[in-house]
Amino acid sequence: MKSFTLTNGMILPATGFGTYKVNPESIIMAIEAGYRYFDTASFYGTESMIAGAIERSGMKREDFFIASKLWKTDMGYENALKAFNLTLENLRTDYVDVFMIHWPDKNLNLETWRAMEELYSQGKIKALGLSNFLPYHTEEILKHCTVKPLIAQLEFHPGHTQTFAMNYYREKKILLQAWSPTARGRVLDDILIRELSEKYHTSPVQICIAFCLHENVMPLPKSSSIERMKENLASVNIELEPEDIMRIENMPPKGWGGEHPDRERVKI
Ligand SMILES: NC(=O)c1ccc[n+]([C@@H]2O[C@H](COP(=O)([O-])OP(=O)(O)OC[C@H]3O[C@@H](n4cnc5c(N)ncnc54)[C@H](OP(=O)(O)O)[C@@H]3O)[C@@H](O)[C@H]2O)c1
Repeated sequence: MKSFTLTNGMILPATGFGTYKVNPESIIMAIEAGYRYFDTASFYGTESMIAGAIERSGMKREDFFIASKLWKTDMGYENALKAFNLTLENLRTDYVDVFMIHWPDKNLNLETWRAMEELYSQGKIKALGLSNFLPYHTEEILKHCTVKPLIAQLEFHPGHTQTFAMNYYREKKILLQAWSPTARGRVLDDILIRELSEKYHTSPVQICIAFCLHENVMPLPKSSSIERMKENLASVNIELEPEDIMRIENMPPKGWGGEHPDRERVKI
């Protein structure tokens, strides 16, 4: 069974469930479908929905991994501590498995990280992470930190693999997670993705998720249908041939969502 092992020994499931713009029923369904890792953020407003779904499942808190993120307006040492406590309240728990800075802010990254390190040393966070940090943002953290980031989350899918960043995180042994692993549908009509879905008798979405897994990138697909949730989880069983991985890696750019940490958002 595929899984990801962080350098602190924590073992994460192969695929997590994205909760941006989901409703409470979707999270209950996702647990039923077999997801145990939930990606949330204070910004999504889904933390309390995850708490509710876990309570309803009758399973133990420790059976789940919850990853949340600190929003842009909560950057800074004191703000981060306050915001983290709110996250714990929303999640009705006393720890989170993964906590990340949602977007970099060059003036506040270091003091925010200091707050996160403190929470980590108190056992309130099991793994620290960075979201939307490109290698040059992460370099600054690595230079000054006492606790290293274990996870980095970036937009990643066929047509937008951020190869430089992927190789950088691989070399640093920081697990890369893929947000929008299917580019919210923007790559599903691509000629290569369609060809491969016919070749492997799978859906185009499964090609996208299988591609992440073959690159050792943890995908976080979101869906509101239990059939699609299960279909996405089953992508772990698809063995893409090395030549097809190379073809995906070298397809023309496609499906970028328009967000870059150092630029104004581009409307797609
Ligand atoms: N760190 C960040 O800044 C950041 C940014 C964006 C996202 N994220 C995280 O990444 C997660 C996933 O990203 P995302 O929601 O942007 O995009 P995504 O997972 O690539 O795409 C979601 C879309 O794909 C559809 N879909 C899912 N499975 C499908 C299937 N098997 N067949 C056909 N369509 C399918 C869904 O439709 P239905 O819902 O109708 O099934 C939904 O419209 C988010 O929920 C969030 O947790 C993080």
